[in-house]
This record gives sequence, structure tokens and C-alpha cells, in this order.
Amino acid sequence: MSNSEIEKKAITKFLIHLHPVNVNAQAIKYTRTFGLGGIAALLFVILFLTGILLRFAYVPSEIGAYASITYLQQEVLFGQLLRNTHFWSGMLLVIVSFLHLIRVIYSQSIYYERRKNWLYGLLLMFLVILSNFTGYLLPWDQLAYWAVTIMTNMMSYVPLIGEKLATIVRGGAELNEGTLLRFYNLHTGLLPLIMVFVMSIHVWLVRKSKGVTVADSSKKEMVPTNPQLVYKEIVVALALILLLTFFSIFVDAPLQSQANPLVSPNPSKSPWYFMGFQELLLHLHPIFSIFIVPLLVTAFLIYIPYMKDVHVNVGVWFHSENGKKITIWSVVYAAVFTFLLIVASEYLLKFQLWMPDLSLLITTGLLPLVLYLVPSALFLYVMKQKLNADKTELIMSIVTILLTGYIVMTVVGSLMRGQNMNLFA
Ligand code: HEM
Repeated sequence: MSNSEIEKKAITKFLIHLHPVNVNAQAIKYTRTFGLGGIAALLFVILFLTGILLRFAYVPSEIGAYASITYLQQEVLFGQLLRNTHFWSGMLLVIVSFLHLIRVIYSQSIYYERRKNWLYGLLLMFLVILSNFTGYLLPWDQLAYWAVTIMTNMMSYVPLIGEKLATIVRGGAELNEGTLLRFYNLHTGLLPLIMVFVMSIHVWLVRKSKGVTVADSSKKEMVPTNPQLVYKEIVVALALILLLTFFSIFVDAPLQSQANPLVSPNPSKSPWYFMGFQELLLHLHPIFSIFIVPLLVTAFLIYIPYMKDVHVNVGVWFHSENGKKITIWSVVYAAVFTFLLIVASEYLLKFQLWMPDLSLLITTGLLPLVLYLVPSALFLYVMKQKLNADKTELIMSIVTILLTGYIVMTVVGSLMRGQNMNLFA
């Protein structure tokens, strides 16, 4: 056996821990997965490596945190680039994980033997956001301090345990050095450890269900993983690293002045991925916006692959041509309706003033919720009657309405609200 053959065999032996020896030819088409799971995994590795380097410079104390970040940026060779790369990789991981979640839902890749992996995926999404959020505080600047203050305040609205929960997270009545230490330990210790564990199970389950879904399972043409899939993975990885490096060279991670608990910026906003919740809080009673709605949506997402009597075209984007049409209509409906309702709620709908005798739970909770749910139920009814939507297509439509609604609220909250969180201010 020649040296190059021995080398190739060794590489293949290593790869079969991640991939099977052969893969279905359809599975390696780029449009099947857009490489999103792999990109997420690579981003995690980049975050891990840059995070280890950052730890050499970072001091997790009220006095040291901000000073160590400015020192890193101004005095350490490539310190700014290191911080930028870590920061943008973290933001990208949130976006890529979310797109990956959308890919697996719309390609019907969450049913039957993939159900369990859907649950691990949801757990990963939660961990990705929690990791990002705990890292957000560490620079201890105004942006970080007040964004985390808003989030912990939101937590305190959870019925019964809210205040306790917020106090435990903060380590006191307001953010302090204890909070910084908690977040630091979670961000650089516990969370990465848990994520490595959950990601390993996640990737193992993909292999257990015989790789990613394919659109036409009757086509069984197999091709060798190495080089067919491996080359594509290398190209995507190099492109990602290149883009990330360029972006990090030219765009700095934000850093405002040092945290000052006495001066809150106006407006104070949470991190962008929680802006949807902050926006919802402006229109809906806290118990509904922080507790009931998120709980119901999470329960719905967990339950989707376990629903009875659904006929699914596993691996087929949007289930069918009809499904694609319904999904597009759902995006249009949810985008327009959510935006209009936000504007109406800001300027017109004042149920609490019109019906002052009724409990706020009804006037600012139940009524606005019904106002969202009734037209949405009507929309689903029209889809069923006019476009013959089946159960899978209706589920996809509900998912689309929820996702689009959250995205619209995120955009409005992040970009269209100014002083005192007023719209278009
Ligand atoms: C750190 C975050 C994540 C990593 C590293 C990751 C990694 C991967 C990889 C490498 C694959 C196989 C290739 C691919 O489909 O792109 C995969 C598939 C899958 N992922 Fe993820 N994932 C993550 C987050 C998520 C999330 C947030 C969800 C959904 C809630 C999810 C659900 C799934 C499912 C159901 C599959 C199987 C898809 C199929 O068989 O076609 N994953 N993931």
C-alpha cells in the first residue's frame, strides 16, 4: 500500500466517526441542508478556541471586566480582532441555529425516527441563546448592563417564582459582581460543557436515523463520503472562516462606556434576539407575554412531531407545492397583520381606558390575545377551505405565523422604537 493510500485510509477511518463511509447522492446537494448544521458546529469550535484565548485577558470583576476588555482591544496584538471574531461568531451562531431549525421544520425532517433529535435541537437552540446572553454581560459596559437588567426584570414577571428567579440569577436585588461571576462561570464553563455533550448526541442521532432526510427516498444512489461530501464541507468551512475574518477585521464588536447603575440609557433595549419579547411586553400583560405565550409556543413546538394522524412527505421542502403556497400566504398574512396590530395597539386600542372596571388581566391580556388569535384562526380556516390545506400544511402555517410574528416584533422593537420606546420616535 502506498503512503497516500495509507493516509487516505487513516482520514476515512477518522471521518467515519462523524459520517458513514457512503452517503445518499441527494443528501450532499447543497440545497438539502445548506450546510447549516455543520456551519453551526464549526462556529461552536471557533467560539471555543477564541473563548479560551479571551480568558487569558478577561478579569471577571466589577473593576476588572471593562478595563480588561479595553486593554485587550487597545494594547494586545490582534486583541480587537480576537474579540470581534468571538462576538460575531456568537451572533452568527444564533442566526445559523435558527435558520437550521427552520430548515428541519420546512423539510419535514422532524418526524418519526427524527422526533427525538428535534427535541435535542430545541434544547440546543435554548443553550445557544443562553450562552450568548450570559456572554453579553461580560464586557460590563452600559449596553450589557442595561440589556441584562431588562431581561432579569422581565424574568420577575413569571408568576409565583419570578421575583425569586430574578434574584437568584442576579445574585441580589440588582446586577452586581455576583451576577458577573455567575454569568462568567456559566458562559465559560458549564454551558460549553453541556453543549458539547448535547451536540454529540445530536450528531450521533443524525447518523442513527441514516443521515439527513432526502426528497425522494426511492433513489438510493450512494457516493463515497470522502471525497464527495468532505470536499464540500471543506469549501463551506473555508468560505465561512474567510468571511468571518474579513467581517471581524472591518466591523468592531460594540463597546459603550463602563456600566453605570445610576444612568440608564433611553431607550434601554434587551439583546436583539429577545427584542420580540420586549415588544410583546408593550402590548400584552406581563403574565401573558413572559409566561403564558412562551410556554404555549414551546409546548406546541415540542408536540409537533408527536401529533396524531399527520401524513408527512419526509424530506420534501414545504411538504408539497400546495404547502409552499400556503407558507408564502402565511408569511404575508403574519407580517402585515402583526405590524398593523402593533401600530393599532400603540395609537388606538386602549381597552384598559375604555373598560377601567375590568381586571388588567382581561383588558391588557386576554382581549389583545383574542384579537390576534381570532383573525389567525380565520386565516387558517380560509387556507383549509380555499387551498385544501391538510393537517401538516396547517401545522406549517401556524409555525410560519408564529415565526414571522416574532421576527416582525424583533424588527419593530430593534429598529423602529426610539426614546421611551415610542414607535417611530
Ligand atoms: C449548536 C447548534 C446545532 C448544531 C451544531 C447542529 C448540528 C447538526 C448537524 C451537523 C446536522 C446534520 C446536517 C444538517 O442537517 O445540517 C443536524 C441535523 C439536525 N438538526 Fe441540528 N444542530 C444544531 C441545532 C439544532 C436546532 C436548534 C434544531 C431544531 C430545533 C436542530 C434539529 C436538527 C434535526 C431535526 C436534524 C436532522 C435533520 C435531517 O435528518 O434532515 N438542530 N444538526
